[in-house]
Amino acid sequence: MEAEIQKIIEEARQSIAASDRSSLIPSAAKFIGRQGSLTEILKSLGNLSIEERKRIGEQANQAKIAIEAMVTEREQKLSAAQQKQMMRRDVGLPGIPPVVGHLSPVTIVTRELISALTELGFEVAEGPEVELELYNFDMLNIPADHPARDQWDTFWVKQGKDGKNSTLLRTHTSPVQVRYMLQHQPPIRIISPGRTFRYEAENTSHSSVFNQFEGLMVDKGISVAHMKGVIDHFVKKILGSEVKARLRPSFFPFTEPSFEVDVWFNGQWLELMGCGMVHPQVLRNVNIDPSEYSGFAFGVGTERLAMLKYDIDDIRLFLSGDPRFVTQF
Ligand code: PHE
Repeated sequence: MEAEIQKIIEEARQSIAASDRSSLIPSAAKFIGRQGSLTEILKSLGNLSIEERKRIGEQANQAKIAIEAMVTEREQKLSAAQQKQMMRRDVGLPGIPPVVGHLSPVTIVTRELISALTELGFEVAEGPEVELELYNFDMLNIPADHPARDQWDTFWVKQGKDGKNSTLLRTHTSPVQVRYMLQHQPPIRIISPGRTFRYEAENTSHSSVFNQFEGLMVDKGISVAHMKGVIDHFVKKILGSEVKARLRPSFFPFTEPSFEVDVWFNGQWLELMGCGMVHPQVLRNVNIDPSEYSGFAFGVGTERLAMLKYDIDDIRLFLSGDPRFVTQF
């Protein structure tokens, strides 16, 4: 009988290990169920002598406990596996759409300007945000005592020796004109988008970090009429074909004559940008002969253009990073 009990334990071990959740209880029942083989042994104990009954009874009870433990262990193992299976992600299921970023309205307007002007043959040229005083001011005919240079307008980065090679955060994109003309001879047709900086109190229309979009064309026989044609073209492209532009006299040290461009938009004239014919002295500074060549330049505030286009009333929103703002475009 002892051998038989050992055999039952061994059979139970194999049978339980091979069971899945649905066959586990039936296979355990073969041994410890009401008519199970071990139960039969326990039932037959009454026929044995007292001593044998005690010994075999003890062994049979131990065997029953062992088989019950095997069932519990198998049950836990199977349910953990099932749990794991359920936790596995089904990558085939359609999920929550990922959050994708938005283009800033400045990027949108910059790209529109680039496409409006590259179709006229302009190329994109870029310059550094930390600029030499020489290119930001001197070469553009802005004299040393000009108020634009003082600390209230300019973020100075480093003071150069002998008043030369000082660096600053460029206050406009016009130094790119100088950089480009020093490297290239006419015909020149470039546009230059980029970030610019001015040390000033911030309010709804002023931000110390903003963007500009510069244009420059130099060739033989270039006149204000060419400039007006180019400006009309891109203003209509961006703000709508019904929009009119007008030139108003103005002053910039690096253009002569100089103008402000106003646009007739939503029933009123709004100031949009500065422009003018490249000053002969600026051409001489970059070794282009002003008796042979002439050109025009313009500089648009990119945020200002975006504010008109999208009816934005506070320039500070552009750098706010507020998703309620950028997701509107
Ligand atoms: N650089 C000028 C500004 O920042 C704009 C400008 C550019 C004017 C080119 C004339 C020609 O105000």
